[in-house]
Amino acid sequence: MSRALIACISLLLVVVKPVLATEKLIINSPNNTLSIEFMLDNGAPKYRVFNQEHSIIKPSSLGFHFKGVAPLNSDFELAQWSSKRINQTWNRVWGPSTVVNNHYQQLVVKLVEKSRLKRQLELVFRVYDDGIGFRYVLPQQPHLTQFEMTSEDTEFVLAGDHKTWWIPADYDSYESLYRETPLAQIDAVNTPVTMRTNNGLFLSIHEAALTNYAGMTLQKSPSKPHTLVSELVPWADGIKVKGATPFKSPWRTIQVASSAAALIESDLIENLNLPSVITDTSWIKPMKYVGIWWGMHMRQYTWQAGPKHGATTENTKRYIDFASQHNIGGVLVEGWNKGWETWHTGLNVQNFTQSYADFDLAEIVAYGAKHNVALIGHHETGGNIPMYEQQLEAAFKLYHQVGVHAIKTGYAGNIVPEGEHHHGQKMVNHYRRVLEIAAKYQVMVNAHEPIKATGIRRTYPNMMTREGGRGMEWNGWSKGNSPEHTLMLPFTRLLAGPMDYTPGIFNLKFDPQGQYRVHSTLAKQLAMYVVLYSPLQMAADMIENYQQQPAFEFIENVPVSWDETRVLNGAIGDFITIARRRGQQWFLGSMTDEQARVLEVPLDFLANDTRYVATLYSDSELTEFVANPTAIDIGRYLVSKDDTLSVVMASGGGLALQLSPATWWQTLTLPALTQYQATAASRAASHQKGRVYGEVARVEHLGVNKKISLNTPFDQGYSAGGAAALVDGIRGGADYKSRWQGYRQQDLDATIDLGQLTELSEITIGFMQSILHSILLPTEVQFLVSDDGESFTAVGLLSHDTQQEGPDYQVKDFSISLPQTKARFVRIVATNLNQLPSWHVRPGQETFIFADEIIIGSAVSNE
Ligand code: NOJ
Ligand code: CA
Repeated sequence: MSRALIACISLLLVVVKPVLATEKLIINSPNNTLSIEFMLDNGAPKYRVFNQEHSIIKPSSLGFHFKGVAPLNSDFELAQWSSKRINQTWNRVWGPSTVVNNHYQQLVVKLVEKSRLKRQLELVFRVYDDGIGFRYVLPQQPHLTQFEMTSEDTEFVLAGDHKTWWIPADYDSYESLYRETPLAQIDAVNTPVTMRTNNGLFLSIHEAALTNYAGMTLQKSPSKPHTLVSELVPWADGIKVKGATPFKSPWRTIQVASSAAALIESDLIENLNLPSVITDTSWIKPMKYVGIWWGMHMRQYTWQAGPKHGATTENTKRYIDFASQHNIGGVLVEGWNKGWETWHTGLNVQNFTQSYADFDLAEIVAYGAKHNVALIGHHETGGNIPMYEQQLEAAFKLYHQVGVHAIKTGYAGNIVPEGEHHHGQKMVNHYRRVLEIAAKYQVMVNAHEPIKATGIRRTYPNMMTREGGRGMEWNGWSKGNSPEHTLMLPFTRLLAGPMDYTPGIFNLKFDPQGQYRVHSTLAKQLAMYVVLYSPLQMAADMIENYQQQPAFEFIENVPVSWDETRVLNGAIGDFITIARRRGQQWFLGSMTDEQARVLEVPLDFLANDTRYVATLYSDSELTEFVANPTAIDIGRYLVSKDDTLSVVMASGGGLALQLSPATWWQTLTLPALTQYQATAASRAASHQKGRVYGEVARVEHLGVNKKISLNTPFDQGYSAGGAAALVDGIRGGADYKSRWQGYRQQDLDATIDLGQLTELSEITIGFMQSILHSILLPTEVQFLVSDDGESFTAVGLLSHDTQQEGPDYQVKDFSISLPQTKARFVRIVATNLNQLPSWHVRPGQETFIFADEIIIGSAVSNE
């Protein structure tokens, strides 16, 4: 078939008989930017995805293996195909926008085995302007009834060694920090996984409508380059999916966008789900909430009853009072029910219908109702599924009776029965069952340790939010989340759906010992309310920490459901700005990683001929996320769509902005934005100074631009621009991706030739530590000198104890002074630990050392 003829397929609804050995069918997206090609390659079904110029997915196999019968992946002929175009809109009950356009071209291919059992397989392909989806359908048929699937063999043959943002495949948890590596360095990943192609396209591979099936991870193909293959999470007995025909797989999805920001605006995942099955949605109400929660993670309260019990009637009323005074809709209470003493014991039995004696459920709900505040219930199963399923009906009935319309569920622990996984088919069905029972009793769900989001919220709009990623809580009791982590989430985890990250910690340096903390400025905490979307959005800190805090006003005002969303800029792991509209008001959030930066943001999304009051919450001149994270400037200015805002962010910082149409009086009295803009340059300059671990800085010393030979190779991904970087007179700053020379599981060994015998006073080399990025300080630094470049004399040895956990981010100078030494050559050998120690979140994995700059002679003060 010619290309032109193929393109016409979309206009026809026809049945063809196969005529060629390789059959090809192509469908194009509505605006013709994306295409899917289906082909039978000697009877084996394959697909390919491309845009006008580039291959996105090269021909990739499809099919299944089953226990006890032949695989379903070859020997096919095309029995029938059809195509159609759909263009509809639908309205969300809640979400990042009200109206969604569902516009796609569909191709359905019906295949039959030529010999053997004449089994049938259907494939449904949909191509949208913002991505593609396809699913397998197994029709009811005599020779394929009940089945035990041992593998789904969907391939994704990518077009190159793309830069990839990913977390490792894990059958029970999505709570890892994201990595940024070439595709080739991946073994297996959870989805969504995000990539950037060499020609600047952004891709996210995931799945939609995960129903009665196992969650999909992706494994690197052992044989084909740049290829990921679906690897389903198994049952305890090793089978992947148990079912009977007729049967449908979830959709396999690839979002495609020309920018990282545009990935976020895609509605593909929800579009591939069925419309709502809940007809009366009046009880589904997005809201902000506070909770008796962080207090437990701060070890100030206990979940179980006792002298430090958090969930008491009195304490809950205190939270309700606070919520009602501050425009917060709900109060979550964990630890209200009997059984917490058995959590984390082998027993783990909770009672979801009996509260502890000091918690009066009915009284609290009634008190809340009087104050217009909803109680958010809590079920922590610890993974004990039989225990929970036995109580499900009664537990939800109780909540319904007393008037609780939202719950948080938890599965923190190994799944019972042993061997089952959080993300296997059995649990996928369990999570759905809970959602259905919740719908029956008119309860909204916020699931922790959940199955990943796949757009089910369209079908069950009571599926509000979920964890399914590394949330705020990790700051409470681990080395915490890097400033970069929250700049990874919008481009990875949140592409799947809303996340209960639980932002809004104001007491950022809560730990007097300094061991734990939140790695963020206060303004960035506010920005998260716009950036990290969740229809149930927590103000996570203990309410004491919100008293007398003017910045809390932003949380009071920010909505949790939006009419319109625009992602204004973004680079994965670096920065982002999102603006969202509710009615006539806009809210904007910008966030940065550890790098202080300035983003110029035109306010051209605002309405014509309208002047707005901009209430700005920004990092102040003194803000710095390590030393001074809570410094914040709050100001009000008059703006219009012709203004451009300089978003000036400190390292680990952010900016939050509320824009409301101005009253006549305000237009006369408020200062213009220019007043704020006038201070932008000095704030930016101050943020660049880097009071804690040194920004990029120029240094004078004897070694600048002298000949350097590197006796060990540095990592090509972190070259700092090449071999000479260590003596280029520029010291690396806070951003580990620039200016630093990285050594992956390799010692540093460098020799500098000063050209002639020279009097030396000092040798210094700077190393970065970033524990979360596996960058550790060297265990030992040796300093040597020589006159001839052949025989070296040791002049200093400094060691560093890597057993000790240091701060997440620091630059440490290893420095020796050299009274009365003359030499021509200086050599430095720094020893890499090579293996992450047991206290690290990824023990045993490879380590880096990151160096810059070797300073010779001139006196440079240490931090
Ligand atoms: C883990 C959840 O993520 C956290 O929010 C909760 O407090 C604990 N489990 C206890 O349920
Ligand atoms: Ca340098």
